[in-house]
Amino acid sequence: MRVDHHRMLDHALVGGTGLDPRQVEALAARFPAVRAEVRRRTGEGEYGFTALGGQEAAVAEITRFAEGVGQAHDHVLVLGIGGSALGTRAVLEALRGPGWNELDDEAREFWPRLTVLDNVDPTSVAAALRRIDPRRVLVNVVSKSGGTAETMAQYLVVRAWLEEALGSGATRHLVFTTDPERGALRELARREGIAALAVPPAVGGRYSVLSPVGLLPAALVGVRIEDLLRGARRALAAADTDEFTAHPAALWSGLQWAADTGLGRHIHVLMAYSDRLRAVGDWFCQLWAESLGKRVNREGAVVHVGPTPLAAVGAVDQHSLVQLLVEGPLDKTVTFLGVADHGEDVAIPGRDGLPAELAYLAGHTLGGLLRAEREATAEALARAGRMSCLVELADLSAESVGEALMFFQLATGYAGAWYGVDPFDQPGVELGKRLTYAAMRRPGFV
Ligand code: PA5
Repeated sequence: MRVDHHRMLDHALVGGTGLDPRQVEALAARFPAVRAEVRRRTGEGEYGFTALGGQEAAVAEITRFAEGVGQAHDHVLVLGIGGSALGTRAVLEALRGPGWNELDDEAREFWPRLTVLDNVDPTSVAAALRRIDPRRVLVNVVSKSGGTAETMAQYLVVRAWLEEALGSGATRHLVFTTDPERGALRELARREGIAALAVPPAVGGRYSVLSPVGLLPAALVGVRIEDLLRGARRALAAADTDEFTAHPAALWSGLQWAADTGLGRHIHVLMAYSDRLRAVGDWFCQLWAESLGKRVNREGAVVHVGPTPLAAVGAVDQHSLVQLLVEGPLDKTVTFLGVADHGEDVAIPGRDGLPAELAYLAGHTLGGLLRAEREATAEALARAGRMSCLVELADLSAESVGEALMFFQLATGYAGAWYGVDPFDQPGVELGKRLTYAAMRRPGFV
């Protein structure tokens, strides 16, 4: 993975509207304290996701499960929300492609289709249950707490649907991914002998994509999960340095923090130049927003901080958001999420009688056009004084995707230290949960 920050700096931008060398020096001067804090808190168990690079036992268990029971099904249905769904969708789309479910059995090499149901929109749930054959489905219910209202409601609906078709055989079509000890799902697994994998207690929901939460669905559709973890280890190894400018995650997050708090660039856009990485943008939005949007800092002082993440896709959003990015308020940074080698390319053929103004396209490839568009957008932003940087994956292999996912998680963990907030809690989500619970219990509510 390649990270290029030069367009975050003032000398690369027309008008000198980026970070100046003194701001970068200030970041470098603060880095040893930030790194020491991250290390101390890691030692105290807070940064549990950093231990996910090595999970031999979990990988063996997941692989065994996927090769055994998993093979008897041609559809995997994941029920979960937030961190229990977004990472799975990101991995699936990146590594199996957005059109995976439309491929026939042979094109999928007989790996199952995969549907992630995260919302409780009745029309999506009803449509999925109409489409999927209950006799051929494996349902993976994912909830770290084991009690989230949306996921549990889906579970009850799906359980009844399975039982209607399969009677007592329904439990053989279920696998839970939840806390190893606590919560309603774990209790149900114990009571009914339902297969269940453990989410490591030290790993928070939105940091769990490389735990059994994301690894089991990935393995079930034929992703080599050892490769995902090898990539994660590569990102962890790159972060094992005391040198600020050599530490990709601390540097990227430090520059975003400085742009936000020093220059008013409060909106952080992640613009993927790959359809396969579109869902990584949604996953990143949750990670960045829920981790950094906080009322109080680590000392308990009221600060109301947090950048606003925004996901975009190139080249599509060049015909939509880019107008705002280039000419709108000077309140954004853009991170281009690119891919050096898409794995395949499509030639743009010429043809007789082509109007002269279209001749420039012929003889190139769609991949070449996409890359040219990305570079042109970065340059257009720079000429308009807009900060951007590039995170470029070498390719769309499991290893590269695992590396990118771990990079953004590390960056978010470091951002917590730059902002001085706890990147692992989400107290703001709790009030909404309590009010939903109260509304559902109100007499007469249907
Ligand atoms: O990051 C988080 O902690 C949340 O987004 C959770 O993932 C989400 O609320 C779902 O929680 P659970 O996995 O407990 O059902």
